[in-house]
Amino acid sequence: MLWYFDYVEPVFRPPSEARSLILQATIGCSQNGCTFCGMYKMKRFHCRPVEDLVAEMRSIPLPHRAQIQRVFLADGDALVYPQDGLLQILDALAEHFPALTRVACYASPNSLTTKTVDQLRQLRAKKLRILYFGLESGDDATLELINKKFTAARMLELCRLAQQAGMKLSVTAILGLAGTERSAEHAAATADWINALSPEYFSLLTMFRRHNDIHFERINQLSNGQVLEEALAIVRRLNPQRTILRSNHVSNSLNLAGSYPKDRQRLIAQAEVALEQARRSPEWFELVPEYEETHY
Ligand SMILES: C[S@@+](CC[C@H](N)C(=O)[O-])C[C@H]1O[C@@H](n2cnc3c(N)ncnc32)[C@H](O)[C@@H]1O
Ligand code: SF4
Repeated sequence: MLWYFDYVEPVFRPPSEARSLILQATIGCSQNGCTFCGMYKMKRFHCRPVEDLVAEMRSIPLPHRAQIQRVFLADGDALVYPQDGLLQILDALAEHFPALTRVACYASPNSLTTKTVDQLRQLRAKKLRILYFGLESGDDATLELINKKFTAARMLELCRLAQQAGMKLSVTAILGLAGTERSAEHAAATADWINALSPEYFSLLTMFRRHNDIHFERINQLSNGQVLEEALAIVRRLNPQRTILRSNHVSNSLNLAGSYPKDRQRLIAQAEVALEQARRSPEWFELVPEYEETHY
């Protein structure tokens, strides 16, 4: 991550934006009510003025600017930035970074409701090319439990509009999110949702602790083995048209990587082997994963 500015911490970005310049167009998240997510709970949501962002771009020494090819607009759902301002930010990025190839940001369902297909097309024409979208689950009961505030069907509709506008989508879902109570429904509905959309990228994370005790009080946590069972249930049902699957987040015990439809059987076999191995270590199988992010 290229570090030029005094960020309002903490700053998050997807693993694939590790080499991007991070520009904090917004602070916090416009939804900020999902019970499982403690990423922006300490921040009051607001959009930063365009002039401040342009001043930050200008503060980067000229020779460095020529090296910057990718920009990630933080924080939690920068797509919510009002359209005129967002177009000005993208114009300023093109002006100040001559080698710019692509701009990306997180997009909550709420932020997608603020843009029409034509507006998304305008943004795409100015190099905003990829949106990172948190589905979390395709199961409506689980979405209600976590207070995502949107049904799976509505999120599918919104993501289809983004696809119509030519945006690439990178979608995340969370293993263990629904607890033991709805693990089977969560796995089946999540795979079905991904099959219906075929986003460019699909990533699986595993539920971990980070300012989200309220969520853990509402579920019976999955053990290590049950997380693998859930992952297997998802990959057995997953069959999208053109999607790259990655599950390389630090919270995952099983790393899966492949392209659909080509690698479908290999991914199922890999998850089956991982589960068989886990069954041979009953102590680990029964253990509840303890991963926690505590650095802020
Ligand atoms: C900034 S959000 C993604 C974009 C957007 N805000 C949205 O919700 O659609 C980052 C993603 O990290 C994941 N995440 C956040 N907290 C998590 C936790 N405690 N355990 C596992 N995954 C988590 C969720 O998939 C969440 O959507
Ligand atoms: S999951 Fe996304 S929309 Fe929900 S609170 Fe976290 S950042 Fe905001």
